[in-house]
Amino acid sequence: MYQTEKENRGVGKSRILITCAKGITPFLKEELLHLGFPVLAETVAGIATGGTIEDTFRLNLFLRTGHRVLLLLKEFTAPDADALYQEMSKIAWENYIREDGYFCVTSSVDNPSIRDSRYVNVKCKDAIVDRIREKRGKRPDSGPDQDRVVVNLYWKGDSCSVYFDTSGEPLSRRGYRKIPMTAPMQETLAAAVIQATGWNGTSHFINPMCGSGTLAIEAALAGVNRAAGILRNNFGFMHLKGFRESLWNDLRAQVKKEAKKTLNCRIIATDIRKNAVEAAKKNAATAGVEHLIEFAVCDYSETTVPDERGIVILNPEYGERMGKISELENVYKGIGDFFKQKCRGYTGYIFTGNLDLAKKVGLRAKRRVPFFNGPIECRLLEYELYEGSRKNK
Ligand SMILES: C[S@@+](CC[C@H](N)C(=O)[O-])C[C@H]1O[C@@H](n2cnc3c(N)ncnc32)[C@H](O)[C@@H]1O
Repeated sequence: MYQTEKENRGVGKSRILITCAKGITPFLKEELLHLGFPVLAETVAGIATGGTIEDTFRLNLFLRTGHRVLLLLKEFTAPDADALYQEMSKIAWENYIREDGYFCVTSSVDNPSIRDSRYVNVKCKDAIVDRIREKRGKRPDSGPDQDRVVVNLYWKGDSCSVYFDTSGEPLSRRGYRKIPMTAPMQETLAAAVIQATGWNGTSHFINPMCGSGTLAIEAALAGVNRAAGILRNNFGFMHLKGFRESLWNDLRAQVKKEAKKTLNCRIIATDIRKNAVEAAKKNAATAGVEHLIEFAVCDYSETTVPDERGIVILNPEYGERMGKISELENVYKGIGDFFKQKCRGYTGYIFTGNLDLAKKVGLRAKRRVPFFNGPIECRLLEYELYEGSRKNK
């Protein structure tokens, strides 16, 4: 069985750090607790838990809101790059990385002796390569591609933590969004936004302005309990020596069995642009959830909103990347009218990065959930749309 340096010394489970986008920690925490993992520490963009390399299989497969799953290999102190090289050379890399394999080094560095973190990556790469060549007579290749073994260094002051990035490519790359369209929402952010609404697959999910379909697709995946990582056939942990492939295959097979085939509610996704709807359909087909989503090309205000209850969620442009503010004012005002006229009995949501535009909706938000879309501070605004007679269903 694969063991980390710490485990070799009998410490048992290792620390696992799961990174996420700023603002997503509460949702990641909820997911971790639900999966039965302890929450050992929290930061604005990550949560520490504990487990083995096999636990990282589950985390990579199930987590919808996490970005990367990092497994701690070793901690040490290093005041400068030479000390870093010495410490890195002490790790038995030959036990983890094949001499004919490939690895990438990534790092986050805040040390007064270092001006360029690329230099640190080269130092780490040299230590790993020199050690493996000495022990095995051959050296692995290395480079910037993160699709095989990824070694991650976190160096702050004198303290270094060396991790395996067991995700390799970030978990937001689920593998279904072949056509991104304009201003798409990151998959992990969309999953967190859905989690924030509390939608659980038992009521309708209406998504006008669907763009590339990220919200609708993430809702469908969650609604049928399909694991977020099931479409991916490559994770960093698969490239480490001693990878227990049969265990991974068993886990995937079990997860596939547990997913439902159908939903007891409707997911409706629309956009005014035909090519956006076509892209969303293709993305949904890649994700295997095309049959769960009803797509249509129309203005948001013409979106079918069935009787009964559910949520209606829109991610309109907010003037950062697309759309001019004055035109958008009318769009936001129109969304308020659409909510009032067609969505009574539903809970309405707007995800936006422009709170001035959001004021044009003309409804009082009951809840405002903070998020970040890259560097842009955003809000998920929740509106209670009280029951009453509805026209134009
Ligand atoms: C910010 S994008 C949505 C991105 C989406 N969340 C995704 O992940 O791809 C906004 C979308 O609203 C659509 N849109 C703009 N005006 C519209 C209107 N009047 N009716 C319907 N859709 C509209 C655009 O075509 C665009 O796809």
